[in-house]
Amino acid sequence: MQHNKRHLALIGMMGTGKTTVGRAVSELLDMTWRDTDQELVAKWGCSVAEFFARYGEERFREEETAMLRTCLEEQRLLLTTGGGIILREQNRQLLTQWAYVVHLDADPDEIIERLRRSEEERPLLRGDLSARVHAIYKARRDFYRFADLRVDTTGRAVSDIAEEIARAWREHV
Ligand code: S3P
Repeated sequence: MQHNKRHLALIGMMGTGKTTVGRAVSELLDMTWRDTDQELVAKWGCSVAEFFARYGEERFREEETAMLRTCLEEQRLLLTTGGGIILREQNRQLLTQWAYVVHLDADPDEIIERLRRSEEERPLLRGDLSARVHAIYKARRDFYRFADLRVDTTGRAVSDIAEEIARAWREHV
């Protein structure tokens, strides 16, 4: 590899399938998989929602950046991230420098349907789910543009998406 981008990172809004696709990609490519949220939950011993309630979003963002740095120091990883990781310029720079970054995108209406089915607690989606998703999608759309590859997942099978990402990664390394 002629560059530092030794990791494969998946970014994207809540409900775009980072976890589901991440699992499939890690199996296809036989890569070690880490998820920044899961690492934080293991470190704290409480859920993301509980952490938000106790310490607030700003503190969560500090922890998220520190965890991103820790993960990027490891050997090659498939890294999945929380949907808001792209909000900090520092995180965007770190990802750009150390990872081949794939943005999973989806139509907001499909995101809403997926999130309705998911049982996970997401503190930023309290209230009117549809209104929150549309607002967050619009507010963050431009922050995802730094990715090396954008994959629209709307209406597609997980295996198909995972294969597209695996192909792009093989070309990258
Ligand atoms: C967040 C997304 C969540 C989690 C936290 C904040 C966000 O991760 O990090 O609730 O700001 O979009 P997922 O994208 O895995 O749901």
